[in-house]
Amino acid sequence: MPVKKLRVGVLASGRGSNLQAIIDACAGGEVPAVVTVVVSDRAGAYALDRARQHGIPAVHIHPAYYGTKEEYENRIVLEMREYGVDLVCLAGYMRLAGRVLLDSFPDSIMNIHPALLPSFKGLHGQRQAVEYGVKISGCTVHFVDGGMDTGPIIIQAAVPVLAEDTEEDLSARILEQEHSIYPEAVKLFAEGRLRIDGKKVFILPGRE
Ligand code: GRF
Repeated sequence: MPVKKLRVGVLASGRGSNLQAIIDACAGGEVPAVVTVVVSDRAGAYALDRARQHGIPAVHIHPAYYGTKEEYENRIVLEMREYGVDLVCLAGYMRLAGRVLLDSFPDSIMNIHPALLPSFKGLHGQRQAVEYGVKISGCTVHFVDGGMDTGPIIIQAAVPVLAEDTEEDLSARILEQEHSIYPEAVKLFAEGRLRIDGKKVFILPGRE
């Protein structure tokens, strides 16, 4: 019997390399999921082009057209519902998820952050790490709650920070790991192997 695939909706504001990693992992069969829609708050986001290149519906929703954040997010939810989305992945989405989005997809929104949370939350996680002088940084996939990069952590990957690293050097090293752990987190979700208990996410064993 064919396995029902998880339906993923991606919210992105920029170049969409994490979106690409998820699309590729789904297409390659490593992740039992399918990206059914990509929504962006920016008309020029390259993420929308990537979606179109793969025949995935690409939707621009302009926040300024809506009177409130709730109305804006209602429109996003409408699109996600239209495409039967089970899991929403924020991938370089430059806005905080608000109540409407959170309530519409309880425990079903993920984000990727380019630092080892809870360090270096917010913008420019890589720059913050270089400026702070840490020796190790990395990336984090977490469930999204109402805060800024505060939700329960699903997977992290660490990379060294070298003395001579620029922000760009570290970003490139981290990005490679992002492209590995984000599809992995989607896979675990698709397999029903993530259990949230307060701040902790337990990863249940897979079937042999
Ligand atoms: C990534 O570094 C991600 O961690 C952060 O925004 C960046 C998005 O990159 N949230 P891309 O659009 O997926 O290439």
